[in-house]
Amino acid sequence: MASKKFKKNLLCIGAGYVGGPTMAMIAHKCPQYKVTVVDVSNEKIAAWQTDNLPIYEPGLLELVKSCRGKNLFFSTDVDKGIKESEIIFISVNTPTKTFGEGAGKSADLQYWEKTARDILRASDSDKIIVERSTLPVKTAIAMERILSLNEKGLNFEVVSNPEFLAEGTAIKDLEKPDRVLIGSKETESGIKARNKIVNIYANWIPRTHLITSNQMSSELSKLVANSFLAQRISSINSISALCEKVDADVNEVANAIGKDKRIGDKFLNASVGFGGSCFKKDILNLVYLCETFGLYEVAAYWENIVKINDYQTSRFVQNINKAMFNTITNKRIAIFGYAFKANTSDTRETAALYVTRKLMTERAHVVISDPKAIKNAKKDLKEYGNDIEYQEDPYKAAKGAHAVAIVTEWDMYKTLDYEKIYRSMEKPAFIFDGRNILDHEKLFKIGYEVHPIGRPPLVHFNEG
Ligand code: UDX
Ligand code: UDX
Repeated sequence: MASKKFKKNLLCIGAGYVGGPTMAMIAHKCPQYKVTVVDVSNEKIAAWQTDNLPIYEPGLLELVKSCRGKNLFFSTDVDKGIKESEIIFISVNTPTKTFGEGAGKSADLQYWEKTARDILRASDSDKIIVERSTLPVKTAIAMERILSLNEKGLNFEVVSNPEFLAEGTAIKDLEKPDRVLIGSKETESGIKARNKIVNIYANWIPRTHLITSNQMSSELSKLVANSFLAQRISSINSISALCEKVDADVNEVANAIGKDKRIGDKFLNASVGFGGSCFKKDILNLVYLCETFGLYEVAAYWENIVKINDYQTSRFVQNINKAMFNTITNKRIAIFGYAFKANTSDTRETAALYVTRKLMTERAHVVISDPKAIKNAKKDLKEYGNDIEYQEDPYKAAKGAHAVAIVTEWDMYKTLDYEKIYRSMEKPAFIFDGRNILDHEKLFKIGYEVHPIGRPPLVHFNEG
């Protein structure tokens, strides 16, 4: 057991976007606990020990620095970490299965099960296991089954504590969450374990924000929360297609409906399509779950959220092609923003990947610009080698371009000198604003052909 200096030893397996920030916040708020984060990746663990963290998240470095080496430690020694801790958070990744039964929809649980077996092998005392990754409903029960098969007489309680943090605002979300959800079996030992997790968060979060439930409600709530959020985006995106046809402005529609308190104004920004590691995966998980229980109409309802999203992204590329006289071969197109949203380096499921691939199929000359995600973009697009150009500086990216396409809503793109960019571009100069973040009238006056999402384009030449 570790030094007596600390009241409790907490471990997290998986030092990614979820595990790293969550544990850094717990360590920061609870100096009385020793917090260790382990990962199978040597490279990641090494990076967590430097000022060049493996992920970009505003405020994360400061948070990590405030407790690293004091009560926050990073290591690749998974077994030692397991042995020493009484509470183990798990935040390994659970990608969508790409093979076999449930391929393309259900979660691939191989890392999850391997982690359960690692815990079983290395443990020599009772543990509370906290599911932090988003998982299919009933995973906690499966995990408990694996863990209960031990011949060491050990007791494992599995608690579900889904993450609701959004990238880019993860630190704020962890510090002041709308709610923290903690689900367990409703047995005496289950509730006791659940209370221990509640007590960790109660160090900085008001009790009124700490919600408890049974294990399955907790697991399901996570999938449903993300599906509802994604559903709002697909709803407004579907309306954006209609707005473009009928001379309406989707921003005005979103504003008008959002003022109704029952609807609310959040998550109504029409876009090139949602991305990120969660939305699509979680909806497809929900779809798979419904299909498993023969609820085909329910499954189809949710699956359409993903279909509308795919439609929105492909519509964006089709609009580029159509506006540019149905040929973009050899035309230089600068993509502004590659991350799946602003303020992150994460590119998982980013709409930009789909947009780029489509443009490459049309043999355009694609230049990608992003303040944080170029490294990941290069990895995602390595099959294209030097055929794609990468330019962190947006002015250099746009120089000589026929078109600029805004794909990520980075603040910096709102304040660029678009007159200067216009002067450096080929004419006619096109702007496709996939995030509706620019002043379209102003751009039109400068001389651009402007194509927003969800309102008719502002064009100088009308072929009709
Ligand atoms: C997430 C979440 O946990 C999940 O809720 C979300 O839906 C998608 O995956 P995230 O932190 O975003 O995790 O993923 P990632 O940044 O890939 O981190 C997972 C880490 O687990 C990786 O660093 C990986 O090396 C590590 N890992 C994976 C292990 O340490 N052991 C394994 O067996 C598998
Ligand atoms: C999401 C959930 O918000 C979070 O609670 C959960 O724990 C993990 O999944 P995240 O994927 O990090 O978080 O980002 P989010 O802010 O939800 O954005 C997801 C995608 O939707 C991004 O591509 C974003 O650009 C897009 N989006 C969001 C829109 O297109 N329009 C909007 O109005 C809001």
